[in-house]
Amino acid sequence: MGSCSRLIFAAFSLWLAVVATAEDPYLFFEWNVTYGTISPLGTPQQGILINGDFPGPEINCTSNNNIVVNIFNNLDEPFLLTWAGIQNRKNSWQDGTPGTMCPIPPGQNYTYKFQVKDQIGSYIYFPTTSLHRASGGMGMLKVHSRELIPVPFDKPTADVAILLGDWYNKDHKTLKRILDSGRSIGKPDGIQINGNSGRIGDPGEPLISMVPNKTYRLRVCNVGMRLSVNFRVQGHTMKLVEMEGSHTVQNTYDSMDIHVGQCMSVLVTANREPKDYYFVASTRFFKQTLTSVAAIRYSTGKGFASPDLPPPPPENNNAVPWSISQFRSFRWNLTASAARPNPQGSYHYGKINITRTIKLANSRQVIDRKLRYAINGVSHMDPETPLKLAEYYGMADRVFQYDLVKDEPPQDVKVVVAPSVKNGTFRNFVEIIFENQENTVQTWHLDGYSFFAVAIEEGKWGPEKRSNYNLEDAVSRHTVQVYPNSWAAVMLTLDNAGMWNLRSDMRERAYLGQQLYLSIVSPEHSLRDEYNLPPTQVLCGIVKGKPNLALYT
Ligand SMILES: *[C@@H]1O[C@H](CO)[C@@H](O)[C@H](O)[C@H]1NC(C)=O
Ligand SMILES: *[C@@H]1O[C@H](CO)[C@@H](O)[C@H](O)[C@H]1NC(C)=O
Ligand SMILES: *[C@@H]1O[C@H](CO)[C@@H](O)[C@H](O)[C@H]1NC(C)=O
Ligand SMILES: *[C@@H]1O[C@H](CO)[C@@H](O)[C@H](O)[C@H]1NC(C)=O
Ligand SMILES: *[C@@H]1O[C@H](CO)[C@@H](O)[C@H](O)[C@H]1NC(C)=O
Ligand SMILES: *[C@@H]1O[C@H](CO)[C@@H](O)[C@H](O)[C@H]1NC(C)=O
Ligand SMILES: *[C@@H]1O[C@H](CO)[C@@H](O)[C@H](O)[C@H]1NC(C)=O
Repeated sequence: MGSCSRLIFAAFSLWLAVVATAEDPYLFFEWNVTYGTISPLGTPQQGILINGDFPGPEINCTSNNNIVVNIFNNLDEPFLLTWAGIQNRKNSWQDGTPGTMCPIPPGQNYTYKFQVKDQIGSYIYFPTTSLHRASGGMGMLKVHSRELIPVPFDKPTADVAILLGDWYNKDHKTLKRILDSGRSIGKPDGIQINGNSGRIGDPGEPLISMVPNKTYRLRVCNVGMRLSVNFRVQGHTMKLVEMEGSHTVQNTYDSMDIHVGQCMSVLVTANREPKDYYFVASTRFFKQTLTSVAAIRYSTGKGFASPDLPPPPPENNNAVPWSISQFRSFRWNLTASAARPNPQGSYHYGKINITRTIKLANSRQVIDRKLRYAINGVSHMDPETPLKLAEYYGMADRVFQYDLVKDEPPQDVKVVVAPSVKNGTFRNFVEIIFENQENTVQTWHLDGYSFFAVAIEEGKWGPEKRSNYNLEDAVSRHTVQVYPNSWAAVMLTLDNAGMWNLRSDMRERAYLGQQLYLSIVSPEHSLRDEYNLPPTQVLCGIVKGKPNLALYT
């Protein structure tokens, strides 16, 4: 560990000792997961509902709250939810991925307990089992700043969750059968916005009703299966204020590109002639543009929205340069606070020496006439025993082999299908390069962490590209996009012990193997670094029936 990160760590420990005195508040939820009919694109289909709703209930909480969610699985299949972007520090036990937890069997319940420690911002939860996300089961998780910590903008009149993304009219079982037979699920049928898809002249229920001259926060997340989306508000500009847990420099935009798995907050002020306007979402970087609209109404308004929709950004050769240039405009506000009183910029990530470079290349292959997706030649499959449990009980060698994925993409293209776990060294400061040699946009998400997205460029990465990195004010976030034949670089300190899923956020790709787990083990085996297996944890596979061991002290 460099002296600088040691310093940061010392400051952080001191801060913890000062702040973590009284126990943080608890919020309790009881969720019933069922099938039910939904019509996101106007055609009724079977969806996955939580307490009868799609999108599911919102978790509205404050930094450091303890969240307890008792989930009753009333589907006919095993089920898990993940809290994407919630770091679950020391607690990959509750991360809700098949590599860390046994799924909740049909007809049973399980209680998640986790803390939104030192985080603020906009996040989503969604199912990680099967292809459930194609049918719903997702919702928003908002984390507010604590009372005395300044927020770099005035409290908005309302804070509106918008979950949007591509959608298929086929349900998850049909889509899964297609993937299991070795084919692709193909192109989506449309775009849904909070479970609806409106058209010009028939936008459906208003998304918000705005009082003139008031300002509204829209928290927008792309919960789609594969496509990037551009969103915009007719007649209005949007001021970007937050992105996946960071307060950003507050630039103003006419439209925003948002890639699968990403979330951002924009402020919209009702400062135009009082009537209806359209909120527009349309697909990007895709041969056929799918568009949906929703109404934004003025409370005093009279009159329909104009049918002239604001134009999308360029879709020709300028599409990627336009989007990269927008990415570069996203900056961390160094003087603003996030979850802690100290300014975000007091974490000088650009001064820490890189201890390891991991370069990951995505690929798409047909193996034995079946479509698979891989990372550095390894296509992941979930074993029956969660990887974390096998590792904890010292039985890893019966379930998986470490480091099938090397730090460099292999020359040899023969893909291996196997559980994929990569060993990381606790507290290393690493650079991960995502290299995309395919001609479609990719998005990558890492659980348990946020990372600094320091660069995205077209072409090939080489060490000389480091001179182009933003080492001052890159946004700390949890999902990064990579354009066709391009690369993206992120940096982070591996200081959260656990087993963490690194995945393509495109569900077809993740389901067919484009994911791995990063195992970060603290050599001290200390409770300071990682919690013990929770006493209530269900055990399955080869660890079923084992005594619950408290290994860390
Ligand atoms: C980073 O590496 C350089 C060159 O090896 C060294 O001089 C410097 O002290 C290191 N910085 C830190 C913070 O460890
Ligand atoms: C959950 O929903 C199912 C189906 O609607 C219902 O039978 C069951 O009683 C509900 N369970 C709870 C705990 O609400
Ligand atoms: C969400 O939490 C914030 C902060 O505690 C509070 O101001 C707001 O009223 C809550 N919203 C809802 C819908 O409960
Ligand atoms: C299942 O729900 C019951 C009733 O709320 C609760 O007492 C029990 O602890 C839950 N079981 C698990 C494993 O979470
Ligand atoms: C950054 O945050 C500070 C502190 O809250 C605020 O005063 C400033 O306006 C913000 N700067 C930008 C460029 O958004
Ligand atoms: C909104 O603000 C504008 C300019 O500040 C002002 O002219 C107008 O009267 C305000 N409208 C309402 C309804 O308050
Ligand atoms: C993982 O890496 C650490 C630190 O480099 C090393 O001590 C450990 O033996 C490795 N574990 C495995 C299973 O390879």
